[in-house]
Amino acid sequence: MQIHFCKKRKLFRLETENSSCLFRIGPGGELRHIWYGGKVEVDTILEEFADRMGTSSFSPQPEGLTPDDSPDLLPLEYSAFGCSDFRITAAALRKENGTSVTSLIYRSHKILKGKKVLPGLPSSFSKTKDSMTLEVTMEDGFSGAGVILSYSIFADSDVIARSVRVSNPTKTTVRIEKLLSAQLDFHHADFDVIYLKGMWGKERQAVRHRLLPGRQCISSSRGSTGHQYNPGIVFAEPSATENVGDVYGMLLLYSGNYIAEAECDQYQTLRALIGINPENFEWKLEPNETFYAPEALLFFSDKGIGGLSRISHKFLMDHVIRSPWGHRKRPILINNWEATYFDFNNEKIFQIAKEASKLGIEMLVLDDGWFGERNDDRSSLGDWFVNKKKLGNLASLVRKINKLNMKFGLWFEPEMISENSQLYRKHPDWVLHVPGGKKSIGRTQMVLDMSRTDVVDYLFHTISDVLHSANIEYIKWDMNRNLTEIYSQLLPPDRQKETAHRYVLGVYQLHERLLEEFPNLLIEGCSGGGGRFDAGMLYYAPQIWCSDNSDALDRISIQMGTSLFYPSSAMGAHVSVCPNHQTRRTVPFTMRGHVALSGTFGYELDITKLSDEEKELVRQQIQNYHEWNNIVREGNHYRLTENFGQTNIAAWSWVSQDQKKVLVTVIRKNSEPCGINPPLHLKLRGLDPDKLYELDDKRRSHGKTLMNAGIRIPNAMQDAFSIIFHLNATE
Ligand code: GLA
Repeated sequence: MQIHFCKKRKLFRLETENSSCLFRIGPGGELRHIWYGGKVEVDTILEEFADRMGTSSFSPQPEGLTPDDSPDLLPLEYSAFGCSDFRITAAALRKENGTSVTSLIYRSHKILKGKKVLPGLPSSFSKTKDSMTLEVTMEDGFSGAGVILSYSIFADSDVIARSVRVSNPTKTTVRIEKLLSAQLDFHHADFDVIYLKGMWGKERQAVRHRLLPGRQCISSSRGSTGHQYNPGIVFAEPSATENVGDVYGMLLLYSGNYIAEAECDQYQTLRALIGINPENFEWKLEPNETFYAPEALLFFSDKGIGGLSRISHKFLMDHVIRSPWGHRKRPILINNWEATYFDFNNEKIFQIAKEASKLGIEMLVLDDGWFGERNDDRSSLGDWFVNKKKLGNLASLVRKINKLNMKFGLWFEPEMISENSQLYRKHPDWVLHVPGGKKSIGRTQMVLDMSRTDVVDYLFHTISDVLHSANIEYIKWDMNRNLTEIYSQLLPPDRQKETAHRYVLGVYQLHERLLEEFPNLLIEGCSGGGGRFDAGMLYYAPQIWCSDNSDALDRISIQMGTSLFYPSSAMGAHVSVCPNHQTRRTVPFTMRGHVALSGTFGYELDITKLSDEEKELVRQQIQNYHEWNNIVREGNHYRLTENFGQTNIAAWSWVSQDQKKVLVTVIRKNSEPCGINPPLHLKLRGLDPDKLYELDDKRRSHGKTLMNAGIRIPNAMQDAFSIIFHLNATE
């Protein structure tokens, strides 16, 4: 890990173990990008990468410079609107005279030890000796505002954490119209783009296609991440596979409106940007104020898409998920939602807990319906008081459950409010809406204005009171609709476009305050399943419910897609009842276990109704969890098949850090005619080539054989066929 500035060449150089990033200060004070990717040495050949040749008068250059210096041509570290860079740009600052034209000129830089966290926002962290930061201060030539680009690198990771802040040392107001978190200019556009698309019940399906000329983007304007896309993007050389090839990634630590944008320009070069979605965003920056844009992570791997995913998994585990639970084995939970929906009472919950504890389940999670007068989804959100008619005294129920040797967890949907609630009757103005206009309603609920401190205070106190009232060790933090009529009663007209971002800051602040009060609280994020699965939430919640669709066959592409960036330890996955409540499909109990064991693991069914045979399978799965979870959580994850689980056969594995233990899962979704011939030969990955591994059935093979020739997988003429097997190094 090294950050170096060469005064003579005006050149910055950032080196991680397997990647280099170089840029230099150009004649106009612009930061010219030279290289990001595999390791390089600085020489004149490489330095030429920062230059392009001026071709026409349609690419003007700043006064005093040559046509070769036109921003329209150059690879830049961070681009601004209005001065001849006609591609998508990263920043636009509006001044009091009305112009948004922005020109960024290098002023100074600092190389610092360590990495600071961003105030009020999730961001990566590290010990001072294990990281370094470069801060480059640019100045907007038109307003005098400072735009500070921050680059942090880490001793143990090929990641560059980038962020941007704007400070206003002037005497006038500056309005930030656009401030993206990271830009990557490439010298060509010969890439496949990979991203995650989805919908409710079908989140994070990986998509891969060639980049086309022009602008392409994924984004959210829903006020939260959304089920539809995920705030991360990958550029892979077209020949890249899971295991080989140069691959770049950008991942945003943010849970609100975002954009990840790519432009293949007239010269077939690629510019990629990621950050807050500028649509309906603006921030008024008064003199002496600073605005922080969220952090973005840049990844590079020359070991294919799988290599990039493993960099991301490890980095998120070690430098983003800050919960003490991040690396810890989680309690196996049972959630009552699909068992009872709203139809439960104290006795029913206790019976589920009792039966579950007999089988070795370690935590009961009481889902929606325990508060206010909530017996269906039409009331009481906001009234976070125990419904005593249903539950009696919560503390004594929790004590009884604790006596069964089980922990207790509770569902909340803090950001929402029902029209039929005490809270709404008291504070109708706390809802996001435009005064005098109609409100949009989703699931008969509205959205609280989390940009208000009184709203955040109310939620902090009411939720804390519940958490103090009983031994509650886990919460499921849900969020079941997107934001509409984004208008805050407390903000002046010229700050209304700040509301969506302030909402997200309020959500983060509430997490922050609750975790300060309850540092060991295990939070599972959720949003109608996986509608807010992002690295920003992972900073607070070490796990997130992947999807309301718990059908094991559908979960394969959901979980494999999720693994593009996110680690298995963060994927909320449960065994649920069949026919499945979302798809009406029935798949074997064992397979449901195999898929759920690939995530956090738990149950989402009425355990009191299982047959003896199923209960025996639960016991086995629990035993497997105890045996395997260390490697699922801490091991290196390999997708052993291409296409992220969207093909008939899907396989994945985890290899322990010392390469001594391997766990492999193989699924064949649909039986095929003569499907047992030819047999499947699966090549394993990440083993020590020279180690001799032993399988469960005592057969032995060397790492090199298992990786080069593969292993023959037994098959069966049935749908939803799954197997898990282990390998242990013999010495
Ligand atoms: C959302 C969640 C579910 C469940 C319900 C309760 O849909 O994703 O798991 O908690 O809310 O209303």
